[in-house]
Amino acid sequence: MYDTIIRNIGQLILPATTEGPLKGNAMKQLEVKEEAALAIADGKIAWIGSNDEADQLEGKESIDAGGKLVSPGLVDPHTHLVFGGSREKEMALKQAGVPYLEILKQGGGILSTVQATREATEEELYEKARFHLERIASYGVTTMEAKSGYGLDRASELKQLRVAKKLNDAGKMDIVSTFLGPHAVPKDYDGDSEDFLDDMISMLDEIKQENLADYTDIFCETGVFTVEQSKRFMEASKEKGFGVKIHADEIDPLGGTELAAAIGAASADHLVAASDQAIKDLAESDTVAVLLPGTTFYLGKDAYARGREMIDSGVAVSLATDFNPGSCVTENLQLIMSIAALKLKMTPEEIWNAVTVNAAHAIGKGEQAGTIEVGKQADLVIWNAPNYHYIPYHYGVNHSQLVMKQGDKLWE
Ligand code: NIG
Ligand code: FE
Repeated sequence: MYDTIIRNIGQLILPATTEGPLKGNAMKQLEVKEEAALAIADGKIAWIGSNDEADQLEGKESIDAGGKLVSPGLVDPHTHLVFGGSREKEMALKQAGVPYLEILKQGGGILSTVQATREATEEELYEKARFHLERIASYGVTTMEAKSGYGLDRASELKQLRVAKKLNDAGKMDIVSTFLGPHAVPKDYDGDSEDFLDDMISMLDEIKQENLADYTDIFCETGVFTVEQSKRFMEASKEKGFGVKIHADEIDPLGGTELAAAIGAASADHLVAASDQAIKDLAESDTVAVLLPGTTFYLGKDAYARGREMIDSGVAVSLATDFNPGSCVTENLQLIMSIAALKLKMTPEEIWNAVTVNAAHAIGKGEQAGTIEVGKQADLVIWNAPNYHYIPYHYGVNHSQLVMKQGDKLWE
């Protein structure tokens, strides 16, 4: 007797492989089983077969998928989930043509969210993050990453990381936590980025001991942190046992992507201005390129990351929302799938691999998340859509009908 049987699945998205992220041409393949069914027991996938075979099975509950699409729960591998306040007033500055890095230089942007995050209590941050998290889940996400980086002092960074840990422990979403202490240089340091970086490095032991993060991240950009500083921070992080990530080549082509490939980063993120050499280096590495086209869209830029070229060159590409209060204010990963189709020229198969198996590998969750396989967590989505092509095609709305986490209904 199974707990739940999902019958009458029109298309079931299955994995091509789970060994590692799919690179380049391997991303073009998506295994899809038609007229399928699956059974869940103890929160895990217990059986996958044809709809006819499922007639023999018994379950405490039976769900009719109505001939629709069923996929693994989506994975969002890059978010800034925990923050105080909001920045709607910056929209007018952006419309007036003030560049993103100029707003930051004037003490706005990231630094204004830092102020609001420092002022918020842990409980307030928790409630706010929980609100956003529920919305993220409603769009079909069952595993995600969450970065700190709006505290920029010891106590406030730890506060953000504790909120992410509590949300993970609440069990509704698997959250991989990332320490993004070097996200900007706070005003308290008078522009002394070296001094600030030392202070962030000095927090690594404590974060490790309290098990508050699996990864670290740094914003490598003009006027923020240099490639040299990024290297120093990433090496220190690796030495302490963290996996490493980097916000690289978002605005200027500094070479953060090449650094990520050379140092063995789990992912290099943004990559809008990444050089030809960076793409070659990524293709030869195990580093996943996490592209964030919603950010390019929201910053009103014309040039997107060269996702098509990256895949054609053999890179493992993933996609994420980059959900944050400044450069990409949306929880909707389905919208990002549409932007990837329209602006990065990715195919539907590549897009699905990018938000499932490759996204899981980008945050070290390849063994638990991103695919539907017997023995794995029953994290899945029943879509109000006839096939997998439909989601990137019909944009801007929520197509998820039922989101399941470990066999339980997470959102309906
Ligand atoms: O990934 N680029 C740096 N950090 C975030 C934005 C943070 C913010 O503007 O608050 C990003 O885009
Ligand atoms: Fe980001």
